Amino acid sequence: MSTLVVVGSQWGDEGKGKITDLLSKEADIIVRYQGGSNAGHTVVKGDEQYIFHLIPSGILHSGVKCFIGNGVVIDPQSLLQEIEDLKKKNIEVDGNLFIDFKAHVVFPYHKILDEIKENKRGKDKIGTTKRGIGPAYVDKIARIGIRMIDMVNGKSLSKKIEINLNEKNDIFEKLYGLKISNQEKKDILKKYIEYGQLLKKYMIDVSLHLNQAINEDKKILFEGAQGTLLDIDHGTFPYVTSSNPIAGGACTGTGVGPTKINKVMGITKAYTTRVGRGPFPTELTGELGEHIRQKGGEFGATTGRPRRCGWFDAVLVNYAVRINGMDCMVLTKIDVLSDFDKIKICTSYKYNGDTIKEFPINIETLQNCIPIYEEMEGWKGDVSQITKYENLPKQLKAYISRIEELVKTKVVIISVGPKRSQTIIREKVFK
Ligand code: IMP
Repeated sequence: MSTLVVVGSQWGDEGKGKITDLLSKEADIIVRYQGGSNAGHTVVKGDEQYIFHLIPSGILHSGVKCFIGNGVVIDPQSLLQEIEDLKKKNIEVDGNLFIDFKAHVVFPYHKILDEIKENKRGKDKIGTTKRGIGPAYVDKIARIGIRMIDMVNGKSLSKKIEINLNEKNDIFEKLYGLKISNQEKKDILKKYIEYGQLLKKYMIDVSLHLNQAINEDKKILFEGAQGTLLDIDHGTFPYVTSSNPIAGGACTGTGVGPTKINKVMGITKAYTTRVGRGPFPTELTGELGEHIRQKGGEFGATTGRPRRCGWFDAVLVNYAVRINGMDCMVLTKIDVLSDFDKIKICTSYKYNGDTIKEFPINIETLQNCIPIYEEMEGWKGDVSQITKYENLPKQLKAYISRIEELVKTKVVIISVGPKRSQTIIREKVFK
């Protein structure tokens, strides 16, 4: 049996798409387990760039089956667009993509709610992607959400939309002075019946198929979206997404038991970034931050927003190692840090005169933490074409070793650029 969970160690955008794509050639199945079209994975294949929001990037490899688990919330319009774009580029989707019947569906009213709720928050905005993700998960937990399976049956869909819109209209009218008209309701129903018909051929019981594949000793990669610090339970709440990107989410989001997971690998950026609001102790707001943003192309793949950038935070990554039970790590975008005279790593925080080594639970504490840095020698020159670990500059190797030491986890893969070829493999991941 060989099952691997790939998680983001920081606030997302660590480069999971590239690594999943890279490991896909060894895998039989890639399964996405949470989030929705808020995610954006950029993958470069040859000279072509692909941006994925819902479909696992493994779809680029023929022979690899891609599953979307029950833990994902699906915007059918966005999914169909992605399928169409892939088909236009001659990527075989039919027969390779499968979606769980139990996954919940994102409706236009979720996006409206996402937007107006954000606007209402004034200065306390979360900075969501406005893709309706939070409101769709709210409906799931409130037990009025609509699932993929419901879209296949027009009658049941009509009844469920009716119940939902009656409730939503109450909220819209009372709180925001808005109303979804009967005509809009009819339009939504018509569209979603159509979506159901177009998507029904992809729907399966993901848990059943995955467990069968595990019994047949297939290699399975569970792909998390976003990152550990955006986790609804363990992230920097309330500045988080509404699902569980952490490794544990792979079980609930696909219907596979924890005893079936062999390995957890954290995708970790060589520095730190975050989009949206919320505390970020090592953030660099001046010229240095701008330099990293430009050099690293740190702009959101989904919204185009500039990402906030800062030094590597070992306190935070240590926390991610603990929460995920991480066995190993991939260090990405190390090439972006070339040509600095000095590089800093945050090894602890100062709070109220105390030194803190463990990531604080309380958001107010985190907001007031001052990073304590260790300074290391930088390295000069372009490292983006180096393919052997031994050939990396000695200062860069020292940086990697220090990170390994601080977070007590081995770096098994190093990514030195966006292309598949720009990768240094130190240890085989799938046994
Ligand atoms: P939501 O997931 O759209 O509700 O947004 C909640 C928070 O998660 C915001 O700070 C977003 O910027 C962040 N977020 C959501 N998806 C991603 C992602 O794929 N990468 C990085 N941040 C994300």
